[in-house]
Amino acid sequence: MSKDINWGELPFGYFKTDYNVRCYYRDGKWGEIEVSSSEYVPVHMAATALHYGQEAFEGLKAYRGKDGKVRLFRWQENAKRMRNSAHGILMQEVPDEVFYASIMKAIKLNADYIPPYGTGATLYVRPLLFGSGPQVGVKPANEYLFMVFVTPVGPYFKTGFKPVAVELVRDVDRAAPLGTGHIKVGGNYAAGLRATERAHLGGYASVLFLDAIEKKYIDEAGPANFFGIKNNTYITPQSKSILPSITNMSLEQIAKDLGLTVERRKVPFDELGTFEEAGACGTAAIITPIKKIVDRESGKTFSYGEEVGKISTKLYHRLRGIQEGTEEDTHGWTTVIEGI
Ligand code: PLP
Ligand code: COI
Repeated sequence: MSKDINWGELPFGYFKTDYNVRCYYRDGKWGEIEVSSSEYVPVHMAATALHYGQEAFEGLKAYRGKDGKVRLFRWQENAKRMRNSAHGILMQEVPDEVFYASIMKAIKLNADYIPPYGTGATLYVRPLLFGSGPQVGVKPANEYLFMVFVTPVGPYFKTGFKPVAVELVRDVDRAAPLGTGHIKVGGNYAAGLRATERAHLGGYASVLFLDAIEKKYIDEAGPANFFGIKNNTYITPQSKSILPSITNMSLEQIAKDLGLTVERRKVPFDELGTFEEAGACGTAAIITPIKKIVDRESGKTFSYGEEVGKISTKLYHRLRGIQEGTEEDTHGWTTVIEGI
């Protein structure tokens, strides 16, 4: 039975659920998956996560479909990306079996918090991994904690599927080309926080970062990838410092399925003026259409209109339809969670 929650009003934020799961890597091996009802974690004061940033996370969602079934979307890609993140900052990789068993357990134990179909809300699943063992010298930890909590959420950007304004920044880089931008580690978000908050205060929903070397090419938004559409073509940046978005990867395929041409390549700043539609995409953002991009330094503005574009609308409905079981899952992207 779903809880009595005002699902339609949920923000994208933390909402307490009943249980979370935890699994420790100690003495060279992963232990049992434990269940906890505490929201707190006892952490050693010298844990490497606290000092040297050994921390990575993931974000995926459980969707209640029109048919009542609950689906996960491409969880295997999240498991793989978490392994890449671990590899990138020398943490123990979480085996896919442990990742899958843990997210399943966390979802099933909190099944009452899965928002009903049609409310616009979903159950956000947040796996995280960090160095929990002590070190004082700059070295990887010997002990790691992998956890999963879930929380029901509404749309990441308050407007939902309505165009937002975005601020393009030149005075901050979220990641360096040979740094950690391609993996999902906490430090990338810390690096972008000041610019992100400044943008929020200025009335923008998000920041848009440029490539760190030439400041010439579009990288990505704070919490999402960027795409532009023109001449029946879906165009998205190729860059070593952006997160490989599973949503973006899926939209590229959906765009092809819908008969669009797809280009993943460098997107020069100047090209922004040629797009007919633009958007941000990600698990939390889904597709968030962009109405305008303002260059903070020069004030130069690129406008895409107050209405959601035709192609963005088609992409959005196909993606959500697959996630919610109303469109055929021709690529085998979803996993039905039995028994809830
Ligand atoms: N880019 C960044 C920086 C993100 O934090 C996210 C969210 O995970 C994305 C892009 C979108 O990735 P995905 O579609 O896999 O959620
Ligand atoms: C997601 O889309 O899942 C994210 O992790 C984005 C953001 C909340 C960091």
